[in-house]
Amino acid sequence: MKYRRIPDETVRRLPIYMRELLLLTEGGCQNVSSRKLADSLHIKPPQIRKDLSYFGDFGTPGVGYDTKKLLEHVRTILKLGSVHKAALVGLGNIGNALLRYTGLYDYGLEIVAAFDNDKRKIGKTVKKIKIQSADKIKLLKNRNIKLGIIAVPADNAQKIADELVNAGIKGILNFAPHYLSVPKKVKVITIDIAMDFARLPYYLPNAS
Ligand code: NAI
Repeated sequence: MKYRRIPDETVRRLPIYMRELLLLTEGGCQNVSSRKLADSLHIKPPQIRKDLSYFGDFGTPGVGYDTKKLLEHVRTILKLGSVHKAALVGLGNIGNALLRYTGLYDYGLEIVAAFDNDKRKIGKTVKKIKIQSADKIKLLKNRNIKLGIIAVPADNAQKIADELVNAGIKGILNFAPHYLSVPKKVKVITIDIAMDFARLPYYLPNAS
């Protein structure tokens, strides 16, 4: 099936739909209405219907969407039909937590290589992955790894991004609070925990 180009905001919500559809199929639910999804996800029904309209018109009035089919469409659009291998750079607090996190596999993501520049960490094995020297990042070129994760201090993030891009990485998940300059064809998603946290006090009720 050929899909229309989907807006980034919709793409951002797709994993949320995917997680809910996974839960529903695991629970034996065969059909789901946009209203039911909206209620569970606290997203407005028209927004859900608009997002789902990108997948074609396969909902049945009064019945809803075939849960399994919708899940497959979302998976296909996100290109999560097969496992994507990822390389992780920086085995500190964040890197270690990610490497130990089993939830990535539900989305078809697997960290298969890990790098650090600390001699005390190089050669150690975490979750069956041997930590390699950062000098070896260039060897990723010989493996079919297209995703990279940066979990190094901000000062070193651009250097690591350049090395990952030179090694053929096409998508980077960046935990360092640093803007990364990359070629147009490389997608960077930065997770800035402090920045997200900093938005939260705004929503606190005013002191009375
Ligand atoms: P960390 O200091 O615990 O670990 C960083 C790791 O990167 C170390 O193992 C270090 O040896 C390695 N490293 C440094 N330069 C390198 C290089 N050139 N090549 C390969 N490895 C290199 O840092 P942490 O706490 O894990 O944070 C990682 C990033 O995430 C930082 O940019 C930090 O600002 C950011 N961050 C951390 C949060 C936290 O709660 N720890 C929260 C939000 C963001």
